[in-house]
Amino acid sequence: MDVVKIGAELLLRKAKAIDTIDERSVKMIEAMIETLHAEGGVGLAGPQVGVSERLFVIDIDGKTPRAFINPSILETSEDTVLIEEGCLSIPGVWAEVRRPRTVRVQAWNERGRPFTIEADGLLARVIQHEYDHLEGILFIDRISPVKRERLLVKYQKQRAKH
Ligand code: NI
Repeated sequence: MDVVKIGAELLLRKAKAIDTIDERSVKMIEAMIETLHAEGGVGLAGPQVGVSERLFVIDIDGKTPRAFINPSILETSEDTVLIEEGCLSIPGVWAEVRRPRTVRVQAWNERGRPFTIEADGLLARVIQHEYDHLEGILFIDRISPVKRERLLVKYQKQRAKH
């Protein structure tokens, strides 16, 4: 699957809930995990592959991929932490972003089973980043306008070279 890059309207749109988890969802998740591995990322959301639906896949260590369908963030910690983030839709730029340290999320897996997990560390971070994609929010929307502008200029310059 091709990864949609910043500038596409799709990335700014709120994704739609998935009505039924079926063979189509399983195929889509398999293709998304394959893309995630090929791109060397840790998370990938539906809108990033041109599918405006509420699902994302995460694989922190490259061997335990996990799908989150129709996720809800139930709770986030009050304490926050600064962690550097990047995004396959904005290749080549990274920035430190402040977000809650832990998160409790409920979702369905590719077999249609609901699950709830309490995450911290990198997993908590990636869940929040990917969830944002379903809301049409990019990580650069969570940093100061000055820094965002600087990153976008850097991104444009890099693209111009290729
Ligand atoms: Ni991203």
